[in-house]
Amino acid sequence: MILASIFWFAASVAALTLDVASSGGNRSSSLLYGLLYEDIYHSGDGGLYGEMLRNRAFQGSSSNGAASLARNTDYWYPVGNVSLTIDTSSPSLSSSLPYQMRMDVAVGTTGTVGFYNEGFWGFNVDAAKRYIASFYMRGNYNGTVDCYFHSNTTDQVLGSSSMSIDQTSSEGWVQTFSTTFQPSTTGSDANNTFYFTFDGSKLAGQSVYFNILSLFKQTFDDRYNGVREDLAEAVENMNAKYIRLPGGNNMEGNGSPFEWKWNETIGSLVDRPGRPGTWGDIKTDGFGLLEMMKMSQDLGLEVILGIWTGLYLNGEIISEANLQPYVDSVMNELEFLLGDKSTTYGAQRAALGFPSPFRINWIEIGNEDYLNGGTSSYYSYRFMAFYNAIHAVYPSINLMSTINPNPVKSDGSSLDLHVYGNEDYFVSLFNTFDQASRKYPVFVNEYAATNTGSNNVGQVGAQTLGMSCAEAVFLLGCERNSDVIVGSAYGALIKSYNEAPDTVAVIKHTANEILYSISYYVQKLFAENMATETLPVTATNGSFGPVYWSATANSSSTILKLVNYDGMTGSSNAVQVNIEGSSKTTATLIILTAPNSTSVNNLPSLGGESSTITTTTLSGSSGSFFVSFSKPYEIVILVV
Ligand code: AHR
Repeated sequence: MILASIFWFAASVAALTLDVASSGGNRSSSLLYGLLYEDIYHSGDGGLYGEMLRNRAFQGSSSNGAASLARNTDYWYPVGNVSLTIDTSSPSLSSSLPYQMRMDVAVGTTGTVGFYNEGFWGFNVDAAKRYIASFYMRGNYNGTVDCYFHSNTTDQVLGSSSMSIDQTSSEGWVQTFSTTFQPSTTGSDANNTFYFTFDGSKLAGQSVYFNILSLFKQTFDDRYNGVREDLAEAVENMNAKYIRLPGGNNMEGNGSPFEWKWNETIGSLVDRPGRPGTWGDIKTDGFGLLEMMKMSQDLGLEVILGIWTGLYLNGEIISEANLQPYVDSVMNELEFLLGDKSTTYGAQRAALGFPSPFRINWIEIGNEDYLNGGTSSYYSYRFMAFYNAIHAVYPSINLMSTINPNPVKSDGSSLDLHVYGNEDYFVSLFNTFDQASRKYPVFVNEYAATNTGSNNVGQVGAQTLGMSCAEAVFLLGCERNSDVIVGSAYGALIKSYNEAPDTVAVIKHTANEILYSISYYVQKLFAENMATETLPVTATNGSFGPVYWSATANSSSTILKLVNYDGMTGSSNAVQVNIEGSSKTTATLIILTAPNSTSVNNLPSLGGESSTITTTTLSGSSGSFFVSFSKPYEIVILVV
């Protein structure tokens, strides 16, 4: 069918002719397609971070959409004749985790007692994968603990592991691990719970205490305390080149003193207090600085490190007189990441299992400092305090401003622009960078078409083909100017499908499914088909709109990306492409489209994807090819 709609005729008449020159463009940025990672919408806890139990260490809670330090036993439910409460008796597991769950077992109890956790909207139970459970317990118990999945749909036990414990309260906290186990049966859906059960007769009349109850499925690259395999693979398959972390608004914190603090996210999980996140949930910080850096390494991603620079989302700003400790903290963080083992913090990193320093070439000084009253302090002292300190020690690191223009307009500085808006706005930005100053590199470290057409009300969580094509038009504008637009990343990268409200994200997940948005495929295809230099294109018989384009080349191929945005189909809107100097008679044609502009992708269990990607071979003659569109909204990539 595709061949019927995309065809080549020597005698066909095109609406538009594009002559692609063989040279004369600019060098393209090798970083052009990147990622933003922050723990937003359960992209970390309950998302990428492999921990499957929710509220594992009683670090706080969420009420009315806001994270708080109020502790409770949410997501935990009693089994048998027990009560579960939050407890602060001594000794606590650590000064960072002073709250624990107490299980009181009634006098005379027999049979099974314990508790179960409902996970982050259920559990993925996969008989082909390995799992491991663990917990810290204080109290007297000599008996077995059974850990198992239970399907609420089929009322079946899906897989279990038993461990023997023999401990007394005088030993304090003891950590116990299950053996690694594989479920006997794959869950029919995510509606599963995870149980820890004990012999009630051996606990009758006693109280026992629990903290850091944990369950991991085998992780991406089998890392300890690692990331969820399928989500990491989804990210890996985007073929991005860089990742900005740890945010975003989540780095900023809603108010004092809840900014993201690097030193509270490293080392033993026992020493990580967690914090109220910006996006409504308490953060375990189990997916901390080193876990993020390790994941970035595993995915082959360059890191843009975000640092907190004294502005909270509620508008609180650290005064100039009080800023130095925050600058010092950043310098310690950089020594931790970049210093060799002879340095104080480099030695700390090495002791945590990372003897080799990481590599950081880019640092972003803050996040969206033009919001919440941040502009004047950013320009008057905040930016320069961090710039001067970092530049003095690490002169080769490029330092990025979050406000345009960068307070420092010399080599070694850059800028991050964030672009959100409706579909029409994105299309209107196609040529916005054509005349941009070439003074310093610009990243668009967050972009997303958040609504259809000219609609400005709220966000349409389900990204339509129209929205994705509008993003593609914008990205063509970036690619055509990728001598100055050196990076782009969608905001947000990952979201839990279950969390309300629905907002835009490239990848959405449930416990056992992944929804790849059409925006995901746009980025993936654009990143996979990116060459090393731009090529000038001369248009005759037409100009930009409804068809938009960008051409790049490397030593072996010329790549022309075309977006038909609300255009005609068939020969009335066809494009004659002539590649200067090419004698090739075939080209690879990649087409991303969907039935109509409002089409969206969904979870596999809810209808699956409406978008399709087809790859075919297109015949031509001496570097000339005839391309016609089969849909009014369509992305076509021609690789010659
Ligand atoms: O989608 C990402 C969020 O939107 C980021 O946290 C923030 O920087 C932006 O406003």
